[in-house]
Amino acid sequence: MTKVDIDWDNLGFDFIPTKTMFWATKEGDKPWTEGELKPFGTFEINPGACVLNYGQGLFEGMKAQRTKDNEILLFRPLENGKRIKEGCIRLCIPPYDPEKFVYWVKEVVKANEEYVPPYGKGSLYIRPLIIGTGPILGVAPAPSYTMMIFTIPVGPYFKEGFQPIKLEISKKYHRAAPKGTGHTKYIGNYAGTMLPAIETKKRGYSQIIYLDAAEEKYIEEVGTANFFCVVDGKLLTPKLGSILPGITRDAVMKLAEDQLGMTVEERDIPYEEVFKSSEVFCTGTAAVVTPIGSIAFEGKEYIFNEFKVGEITQKLYDLLTKIQLGELEDPYGWAVNVKD
Ligand code: PLP
Ligand code: COI
Repeated sequence: MTKVDIDWDNLGFDFIPTKTMFWATKEGDKPWTEGELKPFGTFEINPGACVLNYGQGLFEGMKAQRTKDNEILLFRPLENGKRIKEGCIRLCIPPYDPEKFVYWVKEVVKANEEYVPPYGKGSLYIRPLIIGTGPILGVAPAPSYTMMIFTIPVGPYFKEGFQPIKLEISKKYHRAAPKGTGHTKYIGNYAGTMLPAIETKKRGYSQIIYLDAAEEKYIEEVGTANFFCVVDGKLLTPKLGSILPGITRDAVMKLAEDQLGMTVEERDIPYEEVFKSSEVFCTGTAAVVTPIGSIAFEGKEYIFNEFKVGEITQKLYDLLTKIQLGELEDPYGWAVNVKD
């Protein structure tokens, strides 16, 4: 393994290119090509590409982490493969086989092994991308597609690290409409969240909490993470629909039920109910489990657990991160070695 010149102690969530990426294409009625590893770099694209004109594209987000004994583990990679397949169906992109997806994710990580941060310093973020690269003028699926998987070494997503963050509920913007594309990692879902994020940061908050677009009554999710709160000892999280079905969300629900014996409810959560919470946090590949210390809404600031990390939040963070690092028995088979 060659050494790379990266300041491992100061990793943020910034674009640091690595060495190798995966590349596969699909032309017309032919199947996806076998695919190959090639040097990370730029490529040419037709100005008429469907992704450039009509946004036909999907991404995924995953992490590989180095364990104490220098193994490299992924977390539930098949779930990302299945989610991107579901997204492909919604966006008329020819689906890519989830098992093959996992095979190539492992190959890309192994090829970029020197960029996986040392134990405890961060992770190698994995970014699969499927885009309609063929040109088309009518609003219809592209005649050809490209799939890439590239990697970036990262530290914490929120600059606060595992510290409570300040969020704000917004009635100014919606993220996703009922029956739209909010449940997929459709690239266009994210461009619309940039302005709300910039505006809220100016007001001193890390992110927006979106409400449902139909009634503006129920919590949906944070811009890039799923939402949880503890009310009367129960763990509540918004039901699936227009939110992203987070893989961390699913893991946290199982851990709360199985390991903490909690009742977990997936349902509509009116925002007023959240203000009664004893603890609030959000989850995601990038966000892991991030405590939420306060939520601002219509001029008032609601503070949770005196702006300290709550006991349940801490326990779920510990359980999740220890399973991800192979430091706790994993009855679910969630941690997957890139060598297997
Ligand atoms: N919600 C949105 C909008 C996201 O972009 C993400 C990140 O992937 C999540 C939730 C969390 O999903 P996961 O836990 O699968 O990373
Ligand atoms: C993730 O958690 O993997 C995400 O995709 C969030 C983000 C950086 C878009």
